[in-house]
Amino acid sequence: MDRLSIALILALAAASVSAAAQPKCVLTGFWINDLGSNMTINSVNKKGEFSGLYHTAVSATKDEIKVSPLQGSQHRKNEQNQPTFGFTVNWSFSDSTTVFTGQCFVDEDGKEILRTTWLLRQEVDKLKDDWKATSIGSDVFTRFQ
Ligand code: BTN
Repeated sequence: MDRLSIALILALAAASVSAAAQPKCVLTGFWINDLGSNMTINSVNKKGEFSGLYHTAVSATKDEIKVSPLQGSQHRKNEQNQPTFGFTVNWSFSDSTTVFTGQCFVDEDGKEILRTTWLLRQEVDKLKDDWKATSIGSDVFTRFQ
């Protein structure tokens, strides 16, 4: 076996050991959802709080989409290591706000999946239009490796 093959095998072994050593369902990292939106979650602190950036693939507005800040928290009482969490995206290119709530699951293959439900609140000019200002939906996120 040549040196390159040995180096490749060692690199692959190191990568798989490091992947296996990663704790599951700590939300820190890069995630992509079923719409093609992605988010980066920074480190989760001891209280379970985190911040990050959300890049939506779609918008209810005609405004140019821009990366927007998110803030959230992850439940610390996660005996099954499949914690619930919530976060808010304060859209930087529209007057809307979205709140996501969800749970992280680890499937049979060890893959992390975030099942979320969201409420998107759009700004309306008058009280009379309040009834049409909120939409609800769900998104599934997977970790982008
Ligand atoms: C807006 O349209 O005013 C802001 C963008 C909203 C994007 C929504 S939030 C829920 C859903 N999931 C996504 O990833 N994007 C859309």
